[in-house]
Amino acid sequence: MERLPGFRDFYPEPLPHQDVWSADVRNYIFDTWRNVARRYGFREYDGPPLEPLELYTTKSGDEIVGQLYNFTDKGDRAVALRPEMTPTLARMVAAHARNYKKPIKWFAIPQLFRYERQQKGRLREHFQFNADIFGETDPAADAELIALLIDSLRALKLTADDFVIRLSSRNAWHEFFQRGTRNAERGTHTPDPQPQTPDARPQTPDAAEYEFYQIIDKLEREDPAQSDAKLKALGFSLDAVRGFIAAAKPTVELGAILQNLTARGLGDFVKIDYNVIRGLAYYTGPVFEAFDKKGEFRAIAGGGRYDNLVKLISGGKVESSGLGFGMGDVVLTELLKERGLLPPFDTGLDAFCLIEDESLRAESLKLIHDLRAAGLAVDYPLTPAKPDKQFKRALELKAAFTVKLDKKSIVQIRNLETREEKAVDLVEATALLRKGQTHQRR
Ligand code: HAM
Repeated sequence: MERLPGFRDFYPEPLPHQDVWSADVRNYIFDTWRNVARRYGFREYDGPPLEPLELYTTKSGDEIVGQLYNFTDKGDRAVALRPEMTPTLARMVAAHARNYKKPIKWFAIPQLFRYERQQKGRLREHFQFNADIFGETDPAADAELIALLIDSLRALKLTADDFVIRLSSRNAWHEFFQRGTRNAERGTHTPDPQPQTPDARPQTPDAAEYEFYQIIDKLEREDPAQSDAKLKALGFSLDAVRGFIAAAKPTVELGAILQNLTARGLGDFVKIDYNVIRGLAYYTGPVFEAFDKKGEFRAIAGGGRYDNLVKLISGGKVESSGLGFGMGDVVLTELLKERGLLPPFDTGLDAFCLIEDESLRAESLKLIHDLRAAGLAVDYPLTPAKPDKQFKRALELKAAFTVKLDKKSIVQIRNLETREEKAVDLVEATALLRKGQTHQRR
C-alpha cells in the first residue's frame, strides 16, 4: 500500500535515504518554534482539524477554497479538513475574547491540508507555525510579529544573508486602486505613483478591487502581457503598477513598523516590497512574506493584518482587530537542508545496559528502571544476546555510556567516547550519566 500523493511519512534518524522526511528534524523545528514563541510571550492554543465547510467558503478567498479537502460526513454535514488555521482561530477568539486580557498573543502548530498541484515546496499536507495577535491596532503589534518571525528563522541559524522579509500593505494598494479609479473617472490614465494621503483604514475590497489584488499577487509569476491586459480591463497599466512598486515608498504605518524593527537591530532583515499583496481574501492592512534571498524557494512564511475577520466570522457579534503569520515546515526544511544548517541527530540515549550474565537480568532490570525513573534515557537487550552483539548495539545507538551490573551490585560504567571505565554505585552512576547529558547532548 502506497501513501497518498502529497502526504509524508516521518522516520527517525538515521534515515534510509536523502528523500525521506525526518521525524527528528520535525521535532527540532517544532521545539525551536515553541521556544521562540515562548520567549515572545505567546501562549499555545489548538483547534479541530475538521471544520464546517462554511468556515472557509466565504472568508478565505477562491484560491484556498479551490484547494479544499471537503466531503459530507455521516451526519450530512458539509465539512473540510482545515487548509489554514486563521478562520478557526478567529472563531475561537470571537467565542471567548472577553475572557482574555488584550492584546491576545497566541500560537499553534497545526497540520493543514490543501489539495494543491504538487511541486517543490508544496505538498497536500504541511505543518504551519501560526502566531497571531488580537486587540491591538498599533503598528507596534505588526512589528512584534515580524520580529518573532525573524527570530524564529534566526533560531534555526538562518541569517540576514539567507532570508528577507518583504513588507507591503494592502492599504497602500487600496490607495493606489482608489486613485486609479478616480483618475479613470476623470479621464486621466496613469495614477500618481506616490500615495498622497496617510494610510486608509481597514477595508474589505469590492469585487473589482479584489480582482486587482489577485493580478498584483500573480505579477511575478504571470506573463507580463497577460497581466497588462488584465490590468487594462480594470483601467490600470502595468507601467503604472511597476512604477508604484519601484518607488517602494513606505506608508506612515510601514514607516512605524520599520522604525520599530530597526530599534531592535532587525532593520536589515526587512525591505518594502509592494509585489507582495497576499492571496488570501481577509487581509486589511500591512502584509508580509519571508523569502530566501537567492530566490530559489517558494515563500517560507506569510501573514498580515486582518481587522475584519473576527467580525465576519462571528456574524457581526464580536469586533476585534487581528494579525498574524503562518510559517510552513516544508520550504523551511528544504532550505535548512540545502544550507547544511540541520544539526546531527542521534537516539539521545544516555546509557545502554549490558546484560552479559543472564543470572543478573532481574537486578539489571531494576537498575534500568531506577535510571529511567531518574529521567535518563536507557535501553538494553530485551532477550539474551552475545556480549559483542550487545556492545555493537550500544555503539549503533550512539549511547553516551554503557552500564553493567556485577555480582556485588556494583555498576560498571563506561564512557563510549573516551572509553574510560569506572566502578560506582547507583547514585554515582546516575550523577555521571546526568553530567554526560549536559556535556554531550543538545
Ligand atoms: P499562506 O501564505 O497560505 O498563509 O501559508 C503560509 C505558509 O505556509 C507559506 O508561506 C508556506 O510556507 C506554507 N504553505 C502553504 N501552503 C503549503 C503547501 N501546500 N505545502 C507546503 N507548505 C505550504 C496562511 O495560511 C495564513 N493563514 C497565515 C496567517 C496566519 N495569516 C495570519 N495569520
